[in-house]
Amino acid sequence: MAKPPLSMKPTGWFQVAWSAEIGLGEVHRMKYFDTEMVAWRSTDGRVAVMDAYCEHLGAHLGHGGHVDGDRIVCPFHGWEWDSAGRNVRIPYEKRPNRGRRIRGYPVAELNESIFIWHDIDGGAPYFDVPDVLSGFDDDRGAADYYPSYPAATLFRPGLELHPQYVMENGVDFAHFTFVHKVPFMPDITRHDFTRPTSYVDFTIAFDDDIRAEDVASGVEAVNAGLGVAATKSWGMVDNRTLTAVTPVDDATSDVRFSVWIGRRPGDESPELPAGAKFLADAVIEQFTADIRIWAHQRYSDPPALTHGEYDGFTQLRRWAKQFYPAATTAPTPAASEGTQR
Ligand code: FES
Ligand SMILES: [Fe+2]
Repeated sequence: MAKPPLSMKPTGWFQVAWSAEIGLGEVHRMKYFDTEMVAWRSTDGRVAVMDAYCEHLGAHLGHGGHVDGDRIVCPFHGWEWDSAGRNVRIPYEKRPNRGRRIRGYPVAELNESIFIWHDIDGGAPYFDVPDVLSGFDDDRGAADYYPSYPAATLFRPGLELHPQYVMENGVDFAHFTFVHKVPFMPDITRHDFTRPTSYVDFTIAFDDDIRAEDVASGVEAVNAGLGVAATKSWGMVDNRTLTAVTPVDDATSDVRFSVWIGRRPGDESPELPAGAKFLADAVIEQFTADIRIWAHQRYSDPPALTHGEYDGFTQLRRWAKQFYPAATTAPTPAASEGTQR
């Protein structure tokens, strides 16, 4: 493993599960950012994510803990904790322990996915998770796409890669011809790295018959911090993707990739039909080609860039720095303004 010199504890939103993996009343164990955590869904549907250990005597809530209404109940002595990590009942005492709290994480649930906000200093979220279906500048929304999970998703746990590698992919126009076998290099039409949510747009075609001067298709990418990237394709198969890279420990990350394929008009089927599944598989295959590189890459710093590569990579790497704990975690003034287009 070529361990990156970049922190594996960046600040931002990170996907920790797909929604369907945590049913009503279920408790789900996981480890991210070197921390044992539990995610649980109250019986009214809200997901909470918190550190796994009970503040009483340290039982792991993911081994025998259960949900009762809007509380998680510890299996050891029955103490009850709410979604904010507060103790709300000790079954054998008159009062709860109001002083102790289990550390919780802000949660966002959208696009069939569950995200947590991670900040080692406990700061509050200062940008949003992009809505991959309705957050782009058009009138499309969830009803226009087949569901993604589980048929059009890819989960690759425990890869030795850093989230920044994945973000660099968007400005790396030269890899598309080699890794994705496109007929010509994409033309980057927009870079905007002024805020914690950054934007990269490029034109691209996958069809060998198309000449660069005739290209009428492309991708718009929204990178929300280092953990989450949403894309919209236009002028080709109508698809949206969400790439999520979540550090597990100082060397490895879990990678989740979700694809949404546009519905055929009038088709309201609850699942992805075979034709759409075929298209989703092709998108996932392209992503797998990237993973093959990322999972064995060494972070090159400073990199040997060509003249044409210099601007994109330099801007992206400068932007990425704001999410690392060594930098101040306070947003720049521009960053605290609205982050959605
Ligand atoms: S350790 Fe959780 S109630 Fe005692
Ligand atoms: Fe790529």
